[in-house]
Amino acid sequence: MLVTGNDILIPARAGHYGVGSFNTNNMEITQAIIHTAERLRSPVMVQMSEGAIKYGGQDLANIVIDLARRATVPVALHLDHGSSYESALKAIKMGFTSVMIDASHHGFEDNVKETKRVVEAAHAMGISVESELGRLGGIEEHIVVDEKDAFLTDPEEAVQFIEQTGTDYLAIAIGTSHGAFKGKGRPYIDHARIEKIASLTSIPLVAHGSSGVPQEIVERFRKAGGEIGDAAGIADEDLQRATGFGIAKVNVDTDLRLASTVGIREALTANPKEFDPRKIFGPAREVMSQVIEHKMRVLGSVGKA
Ligand code: G3H
Ligand code: 13P
Ligand code: NA
Ligand code: ZN
Repeated sequence: MLVTGNDILIPARAGHYGVGSFNTNNMEITQAIIHTAERLRSPVMVQMSEGAIKYGGQDLANIVIDLARRATVPVALHLDHGSSYESALKAIKMGFTSVMIDASHHGFEDNVKETKRVVEAAHAMGISVESELGRLGGIEEHIVVDEKDAFLTDPEEAVQFIEQTGTDYLAIAIGTSHGAFKGKGRPYIDHARIEKIASLTSIPLVAHGSSGVPQEIVERFRKAGGEIGDAAGIADEDLQRATGFGIAKVNVDTDLRLASTVGIREALTANPKEFDPRKIFGPAREVMSQVIEHKMRVLGSVGKA
């Protein structure tokens, strides 16, 4: 069933588990996400960025909405990193049931103002809203506290921000960053900060940049002819701990990008004569499904629907 973000995330925060919010850009990605969720009885969120909307538009949104309506588990369609009020409203008109307004690059007051506008409009239509406070970006373990405080989310500010905006869930900066290169060794994640913010708030918290960049997938990527440098993601144990503290929505895009490319590269390399798209995109869908299953088990959402 197609539900709002709140329908999925409020129980997740209360139950101390995380729900994956996976980025989609085509039918195969969408099927991998929703069919795996059904197989594992897991709630799930499917998100489209503004780039995904530019690429797939209403056609892609309709694929997600149709699969979600027919699904036997709760599914929300979420706008990832909406850059403006207009963008959020456009997504709601397209049928999204959850929108993010990302005004985190503005100062506190302007972030509040822009987020509040979106919250008022979205709530009038029964749609829930994610916003962001703090600056996303990988940081090194040894960085001094002052520097960390400069861009990771301040707990007291988070309380003020939630009160002043009425946001339904909040993305916090805890050291994670987007992409396949999150830092050397074991990328940093600030568990103490998550715990502190969670202790002062009650709404679901969101972690962006949560791909694990599994070494096994990276190895297969290389073996199938792909080139990738020192790829590193968030360790499973680190993510699991974060969900225990109050991270309810966990954003994953990179892992599915890597998995689909692995499936495609392996299929093409193993069968140079193949040109049936189903024999190429089918394996991509299969590798993505395995990665999604792993993530859902790590997050603890399996069996929650
Ligand atoms: O946070 C960004 C997501 O990974 C979406 O990326 O804007 O290239 O679709 P995109
Ligand atoms: P990853 O790049 O770690 O997959 O993060 C995706 C994300 O945060 C989308 O909003
Ligand atoms: Na998002
Ligand atoms: Zn993000």
